[in-house]
Amino acid sequence: MRARITGIDHFVPEDKLTNYDLEQMVDTDDEWIYTRTGIRERRVLDKDKGVSYMAVKAAKKVLEQTDTHPDELDLIIMATTTFDMMFPSTATIVQNELNAKNCWGYDLVAGCSGFLFAISTASQFIETGKHKKVMVIGADKMSSIMNYKDRNTCIIFGDGAGAVLLEPSGEDGYGIEDYLNHIDGSGGQYLYMPGGGSLHPPTHETIDKGMHFVHQDGRTLFKNAVIEMTKTFRDIIEKNNLKTDDIKFFIPHQANARIITAVAEKLGLTEDQAIINIEKYGNTTAGTIPIAMSEVYQDGKLQKGDRIILSAFGTGFAWGSLLLRWSMD
Ligand code: UT7
Repeated sequence: MRARITGIDHFVPEDKLTNYDLEQMVDTDDEWIYTRTGIRERRVLDKDKGVSYMAVKAAKKVLEQTDTHPDELDLIIMATTTFDMMFPSTATIVQNELNAKNCWGYDLVAGCSGFLFAISTASQFIETGKHKKVMVIGADKMSSIMNYKDRNTCIIFGDGAGAVLLEPSGEDGYGIEDYLNHIDGSGGQYLYMPGGGSLHPPTHETIDKGMHFVHQDGRTLFKNAVIEMTKTFRDIIEKNNLKTDDIKFFIPHQANARIITAVAEKLGLTEDQAIINIEKYGNTTAGTIPIAMSEVYQDGKLQKGDRIILSAFGTGFAWGSLLLRWSMD
């Protein structure tokens, strides 16, 4: 038995932060940002709301779309790096807001690969027959950990959420076919937020040093993202005896449009196959893949049986690719 997606939707806040807005905040300009990243604008959630607000909005839409009562949920996996607070888990906050009375849940931290790792994990609970309905959410409020004085990072990130419902596949066997995920902690120094955890609990000093912001070596990430996303894509199609032409859509993490086009070029994918929506939202970390997949579905581009590959690379390093056969009409 496979796990298949039976519902998908997303939520992004209304407020936009454009490249022109950023020109007023740091030494940058629209042309530099657009040509180097493909981003025009990002969404920013209100200061008084946490990531759970967006996660709940996306999950409620999925419950409605699939006509699922919250009590039917067995499990909620919340992929995020920007929890409402250190604890309790954001999954419990989402569960309470959804009023889902019969489930358990937890947060999964894997940065940009958060949704990929969460859906890979969730699929196991379905495949073993242990659970029937698992809500997987990828969401981040990156604006909450952004230094809007650092042009190396603040131009890239935004806020957003996407959610899917996973259920057992029918006779046809459509759904998640395989995944290849990896971590390599030697890459941790290239994208991290050192402050706020048990190693550097908040003090005036950690705040003064900006340790509660994202620190990134963009060039190193860029280079490794292209290499590893290309490799896991190739590995997963080879392992499953497929060819590039068999893949309808490559739906990658949206960190930089140039990363995606470089990977697509190496793989020989067409412009239509490689999905890029970063122009509108920037990098929403765990949100990018479910938001992009949700948009492709809403645009009516997906047909039952289509093969898709989801790929991500980010902090950790953590990366991977997941192969699925689309299972919704
Ligand atoms: O999703 C999580 C994983 N993160 C990523 O995958 C990020 C991947 N990396 C990137 O997207 C890109 O590396 C960035 C967009 C972050 C940076 O673009 P880049 O083309 O790699 O630029 P760079 O860091 O090599 O900097 C080139 C130049 C530098 O000036 P000099 O030293 O050549 O004079 C930077 O100071 O561009 C300068 N620069 C900027 N100029 C205008 C850096 N940021 C900006 C900016 N506006 N915002």
